[in-house]
Amino acid sequence: MGLLKYIASLTLVASVAIGNAQTHVFDVKTNKLGTEIPQTMYGIFFEDINYGADGGLYGELIKNRSFEFPQNLMGWMSFGDVKLQDDGPFERCPHYVRLSVCKEASKWTGLQNEGYFGIGYLKGADYRFSVWARVPNGGTAQFKAQLIDPSTMSERQQYLGEATITVNSKEWKKYECTIKCADLVEKGSFRILLDHSSSPVDLEHISLFPKDTYKGDDNGLRKDLAEALEQLHPGVFRFPGGCVVEGAELESRYQWKNSVGPVENRPLNENRWLHSFDNRLFPDYFQSYGLGFYEYFRLSEEIGAEPLPVLSVGLACQYQSKNHQPVDQLQPYIDDALDLIEFANGDPAQNKWAKVRADMGHPAPFNLKYIAIGNEQWGPEFPVRLKPFVEQIRAKYPNIQIIGSAGPDSEGEKYDYLWPEMRKLKVDLVDEHFYRNEAWFRQAGNRYDNYSRKGPKVFAGEYACHIDGKKWNQFQAALFEAAFMTNLERNADIVRMATYAPLFAHVEGWQWRPDAIWFNNTQKFNTCSYYVQQLYATNKGTHVLPLTMKGKPVAGNADQDGLFASAVYDKNQQMVIVKVVNTSDKEQSFLLQQQGKPLDLGKVEVTTLMADHPEAENSLDNPTRIVPVSAVKSYKMGDDLAIPANTFMVLKFHRK
Ligand code: AHR
Repeated sequence: MGLLKYIASLTLVASVAIGNAQTHVFDVKTNKLGTEIPQTMYGIFFEDINYGADGGLYGELIKNRSFEFPQNLMGWMSFGDVKLQDDGPFERCPHYVRLSVCKEASKWTGLQNEGYFGIGYLKGADYRFSVWARVPNGGTAQFKAQLIDPSTMSERQQYLGEATITVNSKEWKKYECTIKCADLVEKGSFRILLDHSSSPVDLEHISLFPKDTYKGDDNGLRKDLAEALEQLHPGVFRFPGGCVVEGAELESRYQWKNSVGPVENRPLNENRWLHSFDNRLFPDYFQSYGLGFYEYFRLSEEIGAEPLPVLSVGLACQYQSKNHQPVDQLQPYIDDALDLIEFANGDPAQNKWAKVRADMGHPAPFNLKYIAIGNEQWGPEFPVRLKPFVEQIRAKYPNIQIIGSAGPDSEGEKYDYLWPEMRKLKVDLVDEHFYRNEAWFRQAGNRYDNYSRKGPKVFAGEYACHIDGKKWNQFQAALFEAAFMTNLERNADIVRMATYAPLFAHVEGWQWRPDAIWFNNTQKFNTCSYYVQQLYATNKGTHVLPLTMKGKPVAGNADQDGLFASAVYDKNQQMVIVKVVNTSDKEQSFLLQQQGKPLDLGKVEVTTLMADHPEAENSLDNPTRIVPVSAVKSYKMGDDLAIPANTFMVLKFHRK
């Protein structure tokens, strides 16, 4: 057994404070590989909340492109002779507009779209404009498609780029062109301007995307936001919600079948977050379904995460509604689940939903392994509905893992009722949610140490620290999440996946905070919580290593001075990785006492995440105020280690 005592010349804080401090001894059994850590361990959960999809991750810049919002011209300013029609070429999106030249020769006809809190344009970037059009009475129509800077202060011309489109067919056809943008504009708009000599023209599905989408995909994603997801190295990708799966009423639940096939024919759905809070009301919040299940599966594949779709169990959001599908009429809902498995994995020659996938460009299966039924459900109405799903999925697809739910609470009546029910139904994993304050996180360091190892495993599907009274992304919240995650890591035999929530928020359109990534129309920033997730995912290792202090897990207990710690071994890199979180206001010293092959002390990779104030946070103006800082350190036997107050530290030791 070797005693390794390392001193932190770790810098950032003067090490004087440790003079009288007690050194904490962490015993790490590096010769005793524990549970294999699943690839799915740290993942992401995406929901269309906070304008996360339309107006966020989804690349479309036009709001209400198919004129299907209940107020059909919402998002559009029309001028001149513009008439709404409802017998368009797409059955489930029948509305379109007819533009005709005004009788008064000097007047203009056209339309202007406001985008989502404006349209963000990047200087020098190309934009792909497309529209379905026809000349209903024959002749030739001409109009301009213009990228507009509506700022009245600007001295330049209003348009930053334009293209002229000529339409001369009486049949509906798709017209497409590229428009280059001359400047950066945060809150632009988009204009269609009919030529004075034009024949009347019908326009439908007016669309504008940046050409440079994530991976260059058609109907693609905003690149900077999708790249931020990729950089989280998620092992699992839960979608599409959350409460949007349930709907405020059953009618507005997320229906995946409406979200696949040609985008022009995907019907609009109300977003459940439209009217959730009257102090943050967004009457224009709808789901175009442009970012649909095909795109979610494609993204899973592109970022290397296991797809984990969530489907309605036949219960609308129980906080808001008693709208439940009767148990004896659940079959269409169950069919949605069975058909989804075919959509993802089936043979296009044998199954119509698999054929939809192939026709959309992905003949190979997506290799779906997990399906969640229900989100935050509770009470007897949940298990009674989940049961027939489980029976039918098991009968047809015995290899698919089914995820149930422990309800909306981390403990209490609903949770106590549901766990035994989930055991009875023999689901594979139980989805637990906990949005809790710092006091809860402080005492939750042992949450999973004594969980029953029999029956379903745990999926910590939604969690975040909400600091009392200040629900934002201050550093302190992230620190408690990092502390809590040592508990997930140590218990990887029972906790098989975990996803922080929510993922995205538009700075002008949020309903819920904190969130992992914030953005406006042209920029984004990662929060401290994002970096905590990233540090865990990129240092998840392959096996748990036992790490204790005086024989107990280091979990922030009364005699542990606010310290939390866990360790893993990475067999591919042959590295021991130790995570330590100091949630106290004092620097703490520790030493590692290890049993196992010697480690290379000359080249230790040390990464710290710390802030100058617990309430400090990143922002659009200062996106990198708090980021992980890495350095390679050299230690000698007998050195001590110190971790500054309120700090998350990851230490990576190579084997000698
Ligand atoms: O993540 C925000 C919401 O929190 C989710 O939609 C829901 O599952 C939970 O209540």
